[in-house]
Amino acid sequence: MRSQWNTWRERIVSCLTALAPDADPAEIDRMLTVATPPGSDKGDIAFPMFPYARLLRNAPARIAARVADAVEAVGGRAVADGPYVNVFLERGALAVRAVQAALDSGASWGDTRRLADARVMIEFSSPNTNKPLHLGHLRNDSLGESVARLLAAAGARVHRVNIVNDRGVHICRSMLAYRQFGNGATPESTGKKPDHFVGDYYVRYAAWEREQPEVARQAQAMLRDWEAGDPQTVALWKTMNGWATAGIQATYRRTGIAFDRIYYESETYKLGAEIVLEGLERGLFYRDEQDTVWCDLTDVGLDKKVLLRGDGTSLYLTQDLGTAVQRYQDWPFDRMIYVVGSEQRYHFKVLFEVLGRLGVAFAGHVEHLSYGMVNLTDGRMKSREGTVVDADDLIDRLAALAREAIVTKERDGALADVHATCEAIALGALHYYLLQHNPGKDMVFDPAQSLAFNGNTGPYLQYLGARVSSMLRKHAAPDRVDSAPIETEEEWLLVRSLADYPDAVADAALAANPAALCTYLYESARVFSRLYHDHPIAVADDPEQRAFRLALSKAVMNMVRHGLDLLNIPFLESM
Ligand code: ARG
Repeated sequence: MRSQWNTWRERIVSCLTALAPDADPAEIDRMLTVATPPGSDKGDIAFPMFPYARLLRNAPARIAARVADAVEAVGGRAVADGPYVNVFLERGALAVRAVQAALDSGASWGDTRRLADARVMIEFSSPNTNKPLHLGHLRNDSLGESVARLLAAAGARVHRVNIVNDRGVHICRSMLAYRQFGNGATPESTGKKPDHFVGDYYVRYAAWEREQPEVARQAQAMLRDWEAGDPQTVALWKTMNGWATAGIQATYRRTGIAFDRIYYESETYKLGAEIVLEGLERGLFYRDEQDTVWCDLTDVGLDKKVLLRGDGTSLYLTQDLGTAVQRYQDWPFDRMIYVVGSEQRYHFKVLFEVLGRLGVAFAGHVEHLSYGMVNLTDGRMKSREGTVVDADDLIDRLAALAREAIVTKERDGALADVHATCEAIALGALHYYLLQHNPGKDMVFDPAQSLAFNGNTGPYLQYLGARVSSMLRKHAAPDRVDSAPIETEEEWLLVRSLADYPDAVADAALAANPAALCTYLYESARVFSRLYHDHPIAVADDPEQRAFRLALSKAVMNMVRHGLDLLNIPFLESM
């Protein structure tokens, strides 16, 4: 109960000050730390007294005993536990307040104004239009979407953007293979999902180039044709990009993702040159004999980077400079987050440094949310490079595994829509598994483990939500909590996690890390399961206890629903 910390902090400081009249109260306050007692039967907040041994010339345990007595004397509850002063909160009163507040807020318990109206732009996904989304994109998407939702819950205004890489020689490769081997086939004529259809030609191209390395030159020539606006090339490009984009959009819809604005590289790849030339004039950059414009970043431990080539061909860095400036004009932000894989860490360091030198208004307000690689347990499939785990296939596989589990449990008869339920469970498994790991680390995706109904998984939380929903359909919870006859440790722990939930959400938002929220929800869910299994809720004999436990259950269910939504995991009324 973090809200209680400050109140108690003041009380403990005043007790200590009374014991050490010569000491500076501000100093005493600075030295005070809070901890959690080993079990809730030992107290709710622990204040260690070691730091005061010197100041009070006394043993920490003696100090603890005297402070505890002083607290008791003014009507609070505290005990000395060795060198700690353990404080007991007024559980009943706090529980009534916390549960009532949660019930009154309903679906919005967890929303705060911590980031009050900050304008945050977040870029994520950013696929290429030569192939479908893969497992790496799923990690990117789940992270971007969840961070966006967390920020919004903390009061920020969030603008989701995506930059689709729809031009370049890799795009021409699938086009070339299609022109060579396609025979006019279409996604419709073959019954293939359109992005998979395009991706097949990308794979086909790779085999072709292995046999005939000279086709690489044709791909380069095609790119030149495209840049020159050759009508046939442009028409083919439009058709194939249309297919790829439609397929990718279908996967976004399936995974609950949407953007406020999609940028296309074909429209932005020339941006940036102008700002670079301006910088050159201001003496920030220099030009060599080959007409190449450079930025020397060696003074900050980075490289010399090319910003413009003599032949005018576009550069990734320069495009990103231009796109950043464009985006700021489109939607002036206070903070910009790029969700991009860790292999581009250096690129973003350079980008941010150059933006700083250019002195753009938003310099210093850009950040790279970097994430590690995802491999599948099979090991043979790597994301981002090499053989790729296809996103749609993986979700299909998870949904099929969910169906098996449902059929084994003979739950299929009781469900209104088995297909929709399996799809929701698949997303629960996927998103939770991807988000529970800290973003920076590489990870291995284990499909079976992600679906374990009694592990630290999305489906476990979905199942808990469904159980509580079903209980509350039969036994409605009261709207008002009049008393909280807390008898079990579980009830008190749940009250605490309810009370602290809005802070937990805001902390996860500030850290741009959904993993902390996963842990929070899972721990709360485990406590709830213990209450549910070991103690009567809806059938408790005492009406007061029954009412409180039902109200608590409803508040916890709202919290789980809110939390799952922040993780982009569907809540299930039954499963
Ligand atoms: N499409 C790029 C890739 O596949 C990622 C783009 C990242 N975003 C950016 N603004 N540079 O690597």
